[in-house]
Amino acid sequence: MNFWTGKRIVIGLGGGIGAYKTLELIRLCRLAGATVVAVPTAAALEFVTGLTLQALSGAPVRERLFAPLEPDGMDHIRLAREADLVIVAPATADLLARMAQGMADDLLTALLLAQRGPVLVAPAMNPAMWEHPATRRNVTTLQEDGIRFIGPQSGAMACGEEGLGRMAEPVMILETARRLLTPAILAGRRLVITAGPTREELDPVRFISNHSSGKMGWEVALAALRAGAEVDLVHGPVALAPPMGARMFPVGSAREMLDAVLGVWLKTPGEPLCDGAILSAAVSDYRPADRKREKIKKSGASEDMSLELTENPDILAMLSAWSGLRTREGRQRVVVGFAAETEQALAHGQQKLLRKGCDLIAINDVSAPGCGFGAETNAVTLIGREGPEESWPLLPKEQVAERLIRAVAGLLDRACAWRG
Ligand code: PMT
Repeated sequence: MNFWTGKRIVIGLGGGIGAYKTLELIRLCRLAGATVVAVPTAAALEFVTGLTLQALSGAPVRERLFAPLEPDGMDHIRLAREADLVIVAPATADLLARMAQGMADDLLTALLLAQRGPVLVAPAMNPAMWEHPATRRNVTTLQEDGIRFIGPQSGAMACGEEGLGRMAEPVMILETARRLLTPAILAGRRLVITAGPTREELDPVRFISNHSSGKMGWEVALAALRAGAEVDLVHGPVALAPPMGARMFPVGSAREMLDAVLGVWLKTPGEPLCDGAILSAAVSDYRPADRKREKIKKSGASEDMSLELTENPDILAMLSAWSGLRTREGRQRVVVGFAAETEQALAHGQQKLLRKGCDLIAINDVSAPGCGFGAETNAVTLIGREGPEESWPLLPKEQVAERLIRAVAGLLDRACAWRG
């Protein structure tokens, strides 16, 4: 089931120009499958109309404390009680001040006071207002109260100034909301994840590569971030926006990927060592033995051409060989590979697990419809050292990644308990 299906989000709007972006946030929340109730302050309705909010949220707009729609007349209590999450966007300086004071003089502030669940706030205001000591005090108070902030961001403001004060983009707010609601099963863990293809150059204009789009690895990185992990994402050339919060390491060839992965795996100065690696990249097994400095020319005669290839280092096998190293906290590290197969997937995947020495391998038959390269879905069988762990049906890659992350979290916890 989709993460947002059945989730109920109350979106409170303050009176700021950022409210126009909140319309897009409401649209995205609904598109994702959530139910949305819009609760604008009176000031917000100076910027966007109730009708627009109603049309986008698909529900009556709740705007007045003393004109309740609920049969018992207690809209503020019921809205808070039924919400999985309250998002306040834009949160103006005035709204933050009223929230920090615990005021309840309109429907939005009253329901915020009655809300026991998570609250996410996206501030938006002029940079001077954001920097003002009064706003700083209010933000600190709200953070101490457990309220989560996203933004503001830096950039050009509607007032003509440049600086910190723009409301975070709607996609970022939605992603932060999702992370707020996802159990943090990887909190305090750090993972290196590989994604996408590698490119092995023949000459300055040509290369050998494969059809990997990077989607599978991206979803694994997102699932890990949502579960609270720090993520180092080492990736070949892909056309995907970086997952919010991941440290990005773009590379070209397999050897560049190896260097980047080892840099993270062995030691990043000042950073904790990784707890695990999930290698979903489609790494070229071979590269041209001799990369030409100039473009290879046709000989003129219509002759066939042969390429000499040499083997690339096996990143997965190398990491597995180093998995005996422990993290600073003394945990056993976990190494997970993927196996892209086109026949006898299970048998070949099992052989790969043993040959490369990893802890888990996610086997996908990339010749099956809807699976593997470029697809939005995948069907994976997860094998561990002690045999088959789980076999999943064809699922969106997002859900495959979530299941994989749950398995990795379980393995990390077990590794910790047994050997830590
Ligand atoms: O990117 P998408 O379009 O979403 O497609 C997803 C995927 C099909 C690429 C992904 O699901 C997948 O199967 N990734 C592994 C691809 C692959 O190279 O499989 P393999 O069976 O050749 O390699 C086995 C494992 O060894 C992989 O973890 C691979 O990253 C690793 N490897 C391979 C060669 C090498 N020189 N070094 C490695 O580390």
